Amino acid sequence: MTAPSGTEATVLDQSSARRLLGLWNEQQSAYVAHRDHRFEAMFDVLRLHCPDDLTVLDLACGPGAISDRLLAGFPRATAVAVDYDPILLRVARGALAGYGPRVEVHDVDLVTDGWAEAPAGRSVDAVLSSTALHWLSPAQLLHVYTTVARLLPAGGVLLNADHLRYDGSTPTLREIARRHDARVQQETFGSGALDYAAWYTEALRHPELAELAPERERRFADRPPQALAPLEFHLAALRAAGFAEVGTVWQYLDDYVVFARR
Ligand SMILES: C[S@@+](CC[C@H](N)C(=O)[O-])C[C@H]1O[C@@H](n2cnc3c(N)ncnc32)[C@H](O)[C@@H]1O
Repeated sequence: MTAPSGTEATVLDQSSARRLLGLWNEQQSAYVAHRDHRFEAMFDVLRLHCPDDLTVLDLACGPGAISDRLLAGFPRATAVAVDYDPILLRVARGALAGYGPRVEVHDVDLVTDGWAEAPAGRSVDAVLSSTALHWLSPAQLLHVYTTVARLLPAGGVLLNADHLRYDGSTPTLREIARRHDARVQQETFGSGALDYAAWYTEALRHPELAELAPERERRFADRPPQALAPLEFHLAALRAAGFAEVGTVWQYLDDYVVFARR
């Protein structure tokens, strides 16, 4: 696994990292109502389409939610997990350490060129991402999709799970989705899950993570939230990027898994 330069010596112990990954999964389930089901839909595509010994690139992996499920559920799979948040990268390294050489974690910024070198010559069968690419502007998203299309061999697939908000043409659906999100968050936080900000507060109780807070702040200082691109934009961008077949494999209100095959 590679680490941000100058920080290679410090690690978060595996048990603390696994605990933080568990708390992360709980808080993310407040924002994505059927998150486990969404992951299962993605993994069904892998089971039915990819070889058993597949290599997956986990794009914007956070603390390793996709890679953890993949490596546990596909005993012959390997994962290359990439992210830009130094705190989440350190949690991912600790949480995934038990999988040994089946996983690599890399520090990359998806808005810069060069991130596609992370697999270092390995042939990638699938690129998966969840609740992450909404950080990118439409132009950056198109660039990432184009880079993924170049990276994948013929038959390789991309699966992107994310909220793709309804636009003004479907105001009733947009309002239903908004109210559904609010209700799920109220219920999940009401039952004790941390919210996004509280998860970071909990993480920063570990000195090994607190020391990375200024670097995280610096890296994301100039990344304003983006307007969420609708489904139609994703499908058009994937076609323009060079994918042969695009569609959706899962939807719940405005939450989708978008599929593209080279
Ligand atoms: C909500 S988290 C999702 C993490 C994980 N995929 C999951 O579903 O639990 C969004 C992730 O996108 C990452 N991210 C945002 N912008 C990025 C960029 N330019 N390059 C790499 N990762 C980025 C963040 O650091 C964060 O880990």
